Amino acid sequence: MNRQHSRYFSPLNLILAALLASVALPTMAEQNEAPIQVTDETFNCIRDMTKVRGFYVDNLLGDLDGTLEVANSSTGGVYPPGSVVQLVPGEVMIKHQKDFNPATKDWEFFELDVSEEGSKIRKRGFVDVVNRFGGNCFACHVQAKPQWDLICETGHGCEPIPLTKEILTLLQKTDPRCESNPKLNQEEIAKLQALQQALIAKDKASK
Ligand code: HEC
Repeated sequence: MNRQHSRYFSPLNLILAALLASVALPTMAEQNEAPIQVTDETFNCIRDMTKVRGFYVDNLLGDLDGTLEVANSSTGGVYPPGSVVQLVPGEVMIKHQKDFNPATKDWEFFELDVSEEGSKIRKRGFVDVVNRFGGNCFACHVQAKPQWDLICETGHGCEPIPLTKEILTLLQKTDPRCESNPKLNQEEIAKLQALQQALIAKDKASK
């Protein structure tokens, strides 16, 4: 080996090369730890997500299997980062990276305005998001027993919401962001109109 050669392969150079290589090529794990960005464009037709019992889930980091595993578990678990959960078109929970916000177990709460044009984030945050009817998302969802990771459903310990399963299904079927929605019968339309009137009255009362 000549002098030139041995200098080129000195241990220091090898260490520098290794450092540079690790900077240039972040591992999959490092990419998956980047903060999760949420904008109006993150949201879409609720029925394009994956249905689990009465609600819908997705995963912004591509880990739908991880999200489904917890959602389908009979003993609960911790939803993986990127998990998106929705019951009605206008309210969403999104799981951030671990320890992003320990108080809410890393869940962020969203209230959306949805229309045929898409979604607009009306409110977002952690312990302090209050929906348009005066209810604090976190205050209800934190009542879920620890194994359910703030997911309420029924029987997990949360104060119930005043909407029947039938009404919830109707709200999912009429998400204005969906390309096409199933036709409703007269009775279903009447039920939704009654709900709308009740919500308008409640909205006025809370102002
Ligand atoms: C009065 C208590 C209460 C308030 C306030 C409330 N929720 Fe819920 N939420 C519930 C209950 C109970 C369910 C389950 C209903 C069911 O499955 O029949 C639920 C369901 C959900 C679900 C589906 C997953 C689950 O936990 O079952 C999401 C997502 C959700 N709520 C988000 C929100 C967001 C976002 C807000 C605030 C903008 C909010 N909620 C405010 C009680 C509440």
